[in-house]
Amino acid sequence: MTPTRRPAEHPVLAPVPDRTHRIHLRSAGVSVVLDVTDGRAPAIPHWGADLGELSANDLDAVCESAVEAAVNNAVDVPVRLGILPAQADGWLGRPGLTGSRPDGSGWAPRLHTEAITLDGQPLTATHVQSGPGRVVIKLADEPQSLAVELTLEPLDSGLLRVRGTVTNTGETPYALDELTVALPVPARASELLDFAGRWARERTPQRSTFGVGTHLRENRRGRTGADSAHVLHAGTPGVGFSHGEVWGVHLGFSGNHRHLAEQVNTGTKILAGGEMLTAGEVVLDPDASYTSPWLYATYGAGLDQAAHRFHRFLRSREHHVSTRRPVTLNVWEAVYFDHDLARLRDLADRAAELGVERYVLDDGWFGSRRDDHSGLGDWVVSAEVWPDGLSPLIDHVTDLGMEFGLWFEPEMVNEDSEVARAHPEWILGPDSEQLPVESRHQQVLNLTIPGAYEHVKNQILALLDEYDIGYIKWDQNRDLLEAATRATGRAATHEQTLAAYRLMDELKAAHPGLEIEACASGGARVDLGVLEHTDRVWVSDCIDPLERQLMNRWTSQLLPLELMGSHIASGRSHTTGRLHTLSFRGLTALFGHLGIEWDLAQASEAELTELRAWIALYKEQRELLFTGDLVRVDRGEDVQWMYGVLSPGRDQGLFVLAAVDRQGTSQHARLTFPGLDPAARYRLRPLIIGERPHGLNAPAWWQRAEEQDGIVLPGGVLTTSGLAAPLLDPEQGVLLSLTREHGDTSSPR
Ligand code: DGJ
Repeated sequence: MTPTRRPAEHPVLAPVPDRTHRIHLRSAGVSVVLDVTDGRAPAIPHWGADLGELSANDLDAVCESAVEAAVNNAVDVPVRLGILPAQADGWLGRPGLTGSRPDGSGWAPRLHTEAITLDGQPLTATHVQSGPGRVVIKLADEPQSLAVELTLEPLDSGLLRVRGTVTNTGETPYALDELTVALPVPARASELLDFAGRWARERTPQRSTFGVGTHLRENRRGRTGADSAHVLHAGTPGVGFSHGEVWGVHLGFSGNHRHLAEQVNTGTKILAGGEMLTAGEVVLDPDASYTSPWLYATYGAGLDQAAHRFHRFLRSREHHVSTRRPVTLNVWEAVYFDHDLARLRDLADRAAELGVERYVLDDGWFGSRRDDHSGLGDWVVSAEVWPDGLSPLIDHVTDLGMEFGLWFEPEMVNEDSEVARAHPEWILGPDSEQLPVESRHQQVLNLTIPGAYEHVKNQILALLDEYDIGYIKWDQNRDLLEAATRATGRAATHEQTLAAYRLMDELKAAHPGLEIEACASGGARVDLGVLEHTDRVWVSDCIDPLERQLMNRWTSQLLPLELMGSHIASGRSHTTGRLHTLSFRGLTALFGHLGIEWDLAQASEAELTELRAWIALYKEQRELLFTGDLVRVDRGEDVQWMYGVLSPGRDQGLFVLAAVDRQGTSQHARLTFPGLDPAARYRLRPLIIGERPHGLNAPAWWQRAEEQDGIVLPGGVLTTSGLAAPLLDPEQGVLLSLTREHGDTSSPR
C-alpha cells in the first residue's frame, strides 16, 4: 500500500522567515526560552534559572548564542535539538517521534511549525515574553502526512509540563512507535539521580555519572512500578537538598513508560520521557490522534526547590485534598483475611477512642476471598463471612463518628472466581488458549472490553449505592505480562491504563466526595497520572520506620506529605522483623498522611496512651505539615537525618532528627534549620512524645531548652552556625518545634 500524500504547502525545512518566534516564558524563578526560527520545529535554548526581563535583542541573542559550533566529521550545519529530536535536524540520538506506514515510510518525520497559540490566542509577534500559561505549537510534515501539536505549560510553581499529540493526516494507517519529548540540560549537569526499588523497598536513590550514552529507564510492567525512575534528575556534581543545581523529569503516567537521560558524543544532553508502546498497540487510522502523557519538568537550586515545584503544583489543583487529612485506621496488618465482625467492631471502638477519623476494611470481604488464591474480581459481599452484609460494621464505624473505606482491586481477577469462570475471554492474555503466568495467583481483567468494564463498574457502584462508603483503597497487585486482548492478540496496556483512570473518574462522578487511594503492592503506582484521579498513594507495604525514613524521604521528591499514606504499625515490623519503639514509629509516620495499621487489641495501655498523643500531635500539626515547605537538611554523610516543614510565612517549623544508623567515627553535624527568616527570632523546643529516646545524650543548650520552655535564637544563627547535635542510639529520633517570637524577643538565655 502506498500512502496518498497531500501536497506540500512549503518546501520541507526551507526557511520561512516570517515564521520566526522567540518566546520567553518565566515563572517562579524559572525561564524557558522557545526558539522557532524560520518555521523550524521548536527548540529550547534555555531551561533553568530565571534570565530576567529580556528585550527582543536579548532574546535573539539567547537563541543565537545557544547554537553550537558545527563539529568536524558531522553534519555541515549545527545540530538542532528539538523538543521532538529529529534526524532532519542532524540529531543522531534517540528520536522524539517514530512510527511507520504499511509501506515502511514515515519513520523519520520532518516537522515544521505552522502556527503557535499563546493562551489560546494566535501568536503573531516575533518576540514574546510571558508568564505561566499555555503555548501550543502546531507542526506538520505534509509529505509524510503527519501533524503534531506540542503543548508547553509553564505552571505557577515553576514546573514546566510538555506533551505532544500526533495525528495521521494521511490515508493509510500510521503505526506509532514512540512519542517522547526531550528537554536540554547543560553540560554542568554531570551527575544523575534517579530511583530504583522493589516490593517493600520503593524509591531507593541511585546516583551515577551522566556520561555519553543513554541512561534508559524502561518500564514494561503495565503499572508505574516499585522500581520506577520516579523523578530522573541531572544535577551539578554532588547536588544536595539546598545546594547545587538540578533538572528533573517525571512522566505522569501509570502504564508502560520510559524516562531517559542521554548524552550524545558531542556532549549535548537531554532528559526525556514518554509512554512505551508495544508494537501494534497504537495504530492511527486516517485522522486519528494519539496524545502522550504529560512530561513534568522541574528545575531547582537544590533538590528541595525542585521538589517544592511539584508540591506547589499539586497543592494548587482544584481537587487537591484538604489539609484536614483524616487519621486512618487500615485493618490489613491487624487482621489480614481474618474478617470477624466482633473483632473488627472492637478494633473500630479502640480506633475511635484514640481519635481515628477513617476506618478502612481491607482485602477479604468479598466472594470466596478467604486468602489470596480465590475470589478476586467478584465484588459482592461474602455471605459466608458477612451474613448480614457490611452494614453491621459500617453502621458501627459511622456511629462512632468515623468515615468508612473499603478495599477493591478492580483491575484483577483470580482464575478461581465467578467472573473468570464465566468470562475467561475478559482476562488479558496472549491468545484465547493460553494465559500469562500468574502473579500473586491472579490475572488481569481486560477493562478495554466494554462488558468487563461495565461489569466491574456496576458491581462497585452497587456497593457504593448501598453503603455509606467515603473512601476506596484501590489496589493493583501484579505486573502486566503478555497483556493483550485474547481474541486478537493485540497489546492492550495503553488502553487498559486509560480505562482504569476512566473507571476511577466515573466512580467519583457518581459519588461526589469519594476519595480513592492509589495502592499497587504497596507503592508501585506513584505518579502524577494516577494522582489526577486519586487522592493519596500508599508509599509501601513496608511500614518499618527505618525503611520508611528512606522511602518517605524520596517519595516526597515528587509528592507533598498529605498525599503519602504513612502508618504506625505494630512494634515488630511485619515485613522486616525489626523492632522499633513507638516513638520512632510515631515521628516517622507523622510526616505524611497519618494512619494506624496495628491490631490495637494487642497494644498495651502505655502504648495506647502514647498513640493517642501521636494522633493528637498530628491533628495539631497537620495544617503546618500540609501547607508548609519541606526542608531536608544536607548533613553530609551523617547518620542523623534531619528534615521538617516550615510554614510559608516562616513563622512555624516542625523538624525531626532521626538516627538511621549508629554514629561512626565522625562528629555529628550541627543542627541547622535552612530557610528560616534570618531577621526573626525563633523559640526552639525539643518535643518528646512518650518514652524518652534511647541513648539521648543532650548537649547543654538542649537541657536548658527542656528546663525553660525552649531557647530563643535568631533565625540567622539557627540557619547558619547551628546547634550541637544530641547523641541518639540508632533508630531513635526527636522532634524539634520552632515558633517565631513576636513582641518580647528577649531570650531566656
Ligand atoms: C497490597 C497492599 O499494599 C496491602 O496494603 C494490602 O491492601 C494487600 N495488598 C491486600 O491484598
